[in-house]
Amino acid sequence: STPNVAVIGSLNMDIVVETRLIPQIGETLLGERVRFIPGGKGANQAVAAARLGAVTSMIGAVGADAFGDELLAALSREGVDISGVKRLPDASTGVASIYVAEGDNSIVVVPGANDRVSPADIDQHLDKLKQADIVLLQLEIPVETVLYAARTAKSLGKQVILNPAPARELPQELYGHIDYLTPNRTELGRYAGMESETTRTSTGDFLRSAMRRLKDLGAAQVVTTLGADGSAYLDEAGEVRPVKGHAVSVVDTTGAGDCFNAALATALAQGEGLEAAIRFASLASALAVTKFGAQAGMPTADEVRQFAAAGSPRTMQ
Ligand code: RIB
Ligand code: NA
Repeated sequence: STPNVAVIGSLNMDIVVETRLIPQIGETLLGERVRFIPGGKGANQAVAAARLGAVTSMIGAVGADAFGDELLAALSREGVDISGVKRLPDASTGVASIYVAEGDNSIVVVPGANDRVSPADIDQHLDKLKQADIVLLQLEIPVETVLYAARTAKSLGKQVILNPAPARELPQELYGHIDYLTPNRTELGRYAGMESETTRTSTGDFLRSAMRRLKDLGAAQVVTTLGADGSAYLDEAGEVRPVKGHAVSVVDTTGAGDCFNAALATALAQGEGLEAAIRFASLASALAVTKFGAQAGMPTADEVRQFAAAGSPRTMQ
């Protein structure tokens, strides 16, 4: 049957400034180019899930401004059900101000309307959770709402993925409602309280102890994304199982993590096992970085299938 994914999260307009250098404090530089492109972790994940073949709905908020119009139009074009995205007359649409310099980036997110996504919104759109096979969450809306959504989804018997980005303080109870927790390496270190070991300890040892800690906190499964190095999860025995990455020419990594999470959700919703779902997510997110823009770069299911067939000779590890 068709996978059904409910995404609860943020919508941002990404203001992407291309520059040769990231400015220092007090410095003014002349940049190369500016683009306004739809983003936000929630919306990016919704677009990716829809392109990968999931029936996708989104719960979130935008302001009653031009950015809000554009973000909603972008989701509609992809076939995402946006009836759960409210428009607030007295808030501005979320904005991510992104400097991109030679592949590096730095981002300031101003949440605006995203900060007003509330537990009441979850209750109001309970039908979307009920229809879903899997509920996909990130941390660009209030943590209180994320907790409520995860608790509600579990009480409905749904699977829950939390992409714990950006890193924030989390209530202990939240971990217990998470089926799949998907930090990147830095976030893993933060949540495990092992920041200093993130780069100092050997990758295998760090991943094993940090992911074990997150399981001890209550997350059923932990999957860590490692950029070009692929990803890793903990098996039943508590051992690290690496999943290879794919060598591609990188154009823009913005949204790669979002693609990974959406692909994981879609594959799991289709009934795939964890390892197969992670392999699918690795392929999809490798394709996402070959194109500019978070949402624009999200691949379709067909593109992932073709890449899996043709791209395998170029894979690493
Ligand atoms: O994950 C990428 C997203 O994070 C960007 O689209 C930007 O909106 C930031 O929130
Ligand atoms: Na991209």
